[in-house]
Amino acid sequence: MQTLVVATLSIWLCLGAQADSHHRPHNCCHSPNMTGVLTVMALTGAEIKATGHYSYDSLERKFRFTESEMHLNKSEHLEDYLMFFDEGVYYDIDMKNQTCKKLSLHSHAHALEIPTGARHQVELFLGSDTIQEENIKVNIWMGNLPEIKGQYSVSTTVRECLPLSTYYSSDSITLLFSNSEVVTEVKDPEWLSPPAFCDGVELEDTPEGHKPHDFFSLFNTV
Ligand SMILES: *[C@@H]1O[C@H](CO)[C@@H](O)[C@H](O)[C@H]1NC(C)=O
Ligand SMILES: *[C@@H]1O[C@H](CO)[C@@H](O)[C@H](O)[C@H]1NC(C)=O
Ligand SMILES: *[C@@H]1O[C@H](CO)[C@@H](O)[C@H](O)[C@H]1NC(C)=O
Repeated sequence: MQTLVVATLSIWLCLGAQADSHHRPHNCCHSPNMTGVLTVMALTGAEIKATGHYSYDSLERKFRFTESEMHLNKSEHLEDYLMFFDEGVYYDIDMKNQTCKKLSLHSHAHALEIPTGARHQVELFLGSDTIQEENIKVNIWMGNLPEIKGQYSVSTTVRECLPLSTYYSSDSITLLFSNSEVVTEVKDPEWLSPPAFCDGVELEDTPEGHKPHDFFSLFNTV
C-alpha cells in the first residue's frame, strides 16, 4: 500500500513540467458509478490518514465510505460517512452503537469527480508509452475550489473517466486520494441510504466559530 501511494505521488511531482494547455472542457468526463477502496494520505508527514471501502453513485452524487482496519493501527473508532453532495449534508454513522449525526457539507466538491471549472492539462501514458500492458493512458485535470480555498489535480482514465488519484491542497491541508480495486457499479444501493436509526435525526448546527466540514477537511480529521 505504501508503495502504491508513493508511486502515485511521484507521478504528480513529475507532471508540472509536462503540463500543456489544451483546456479541453471536462463536461464530457463524468465518473461512472463505482465501488472500491479509497486510500487517503496526508503529504505532510507522509501519513496514511484512512483507508476503506466506498461506493459512489455518480448520478445522484451519493458517497459512502467506511474506514477499515486493514492498513491501520487504529484502536479508536473507525469512521463511517454517508455524503449527499447535492443536498450538502453528510451522516456520521456509528453502526456498532447505532448512532447517527447529520451535518452540513460546506462544498459539493469531492475527490471522485472532476469539479466544475476543471481544466484539462495533458493526456499521457503512465508507465511505458511503447509497451502495452505496462502503461495506462490518463487525462490530468486541474482547477480551484474557491469556496474552500483549495486547489486540486485529478487523473482519470481516458475512456471511462474513472478517477485514479486526486491531489488536493489548501493552506492547511495537503491530501492524496488513491482509488483502487474499482468495479464500475454501485454494488449495494441500500448502503447509500441512511440506516434506519438515522431516521428523524435533525441537522446539527456547526459549533460556533467553526466552519462546516467539506469532503477534504473531513478526511483531514480522520
Ligand atoms: C500498534 O500500536 C500499538 C500501540 O501504539 C503498538 O504497540 C503496536 O506495535 C502497533 N502495531 C503495529 C503493527 O504497528
Ligand atoms: C459506543 O459505545 C461504547 C460502549 O457503550 C462507548 O464506550 C463509546 O464511547 C461509544 N462510542 C461513541 C462514538 O459514542
Ligand atoms: C448508478 O447507481 C444508481 C443506484 O445507486 C442507479 O440508480 C443509477 O442508474 C446508476 N447509474 C448508472 C450510470 O449506472
